Amino acid sequence: MSDAPPVLELREVAKAYNRGKPAEVTVLSGATLTLRRGELVALVAPSGAGKSTLLHIAGLLDRPDSGTVRLGGEDMDGLSDRRRTAARRGEIGFVYQAHHLLPEFSAEENVVLPQLANGTPRRAARERARDLLGHVGLAARADHRPAALSGGEAQRVAVCRALANRPRLLLADEPTGNLDPATAENVFDVLIGLVRETGLTALIATHNLDLAARMDRTLRMAGGHVA
Ligand SMILES: Nc1ncnc2c1ncn2[C@@H]1O[C@H](COP(=O)(O)OP(=O)(O)OP(=O)(O)O)[C@@H](O)[C@H]1O
Ligand SMILES: [Mg+2]
Repeated sequence: MSDAPPVLELREVAKAYNRGKPAEVTVLSGATLTLRRGELVALVAPSGAGKSTLLHIAGLLDRPDSGTVRLGGEDMDGLSDRRRTAARRGEIGFVYQAHHLLPEFSAEENVVLPQLANGTPRRAARERARDLLGHVGLAARADHRPAALSGGEAQRVAVCRALANRPRLLLADEPTGNLDPATAENVFDVLIGLVRETGLTALIATHNLDLAARMDRTLRMAGGHVA
């Protein structure tokens, strides 16, 4: 097991916005990190330090200017956008600070849709969605649209959606940042429970040091690097 390739590996990742212009902003300059299977890792850094930028690059939502991104030992940088999208869909779950659920679809449909996009037959996708929603205590809310869910409920649906395709890696960008402390705690319990049960690997950006302390370790960012 220990010689299995890391689930996620970033090597010397650099990223600047507005490159070559007077307004150039260097955000990452040699960010390196390794996540092994089953690790639950907090990413803690001040606002503007580059947490979202790093998570978007790790989640194949953006490309670095230089450096390497590997998933399960496989280099993602040389892949076409199509293959990166397929890898993202099948292997990575992403939870944002806002739930970003599709407003005109029910909670269940929001968990079904990414599975259909990944080639899962509708019946199996629906069973999986119901299972997940039941697991996070939302069986009775499956038919609700996002507008008819509380913030904490909507974020639990977003967690289910992220896990729908049984990814190997969960990335979360301040997933409880919009919630009051008690609700944040509840959503976080659900998230940690699912990560632990499924042996998933997770990297979770948070400003909440109490939540960070409940993870296996904490990575800090400063000056474009990961400490
Ligand atoms: N599209 C963009 N164009 C120019 N600059 C950007 C862009 N996106 C982000 N930045 C800058 O990059 C820096 C890092 O932003 P990022 O969103 O990664 O920080 P963060 O650590 O996630 O902060 P927060 O805790 O507030 O979410 C910031 O200084 C930001 O202003
Ligand atoms: Mg951010």
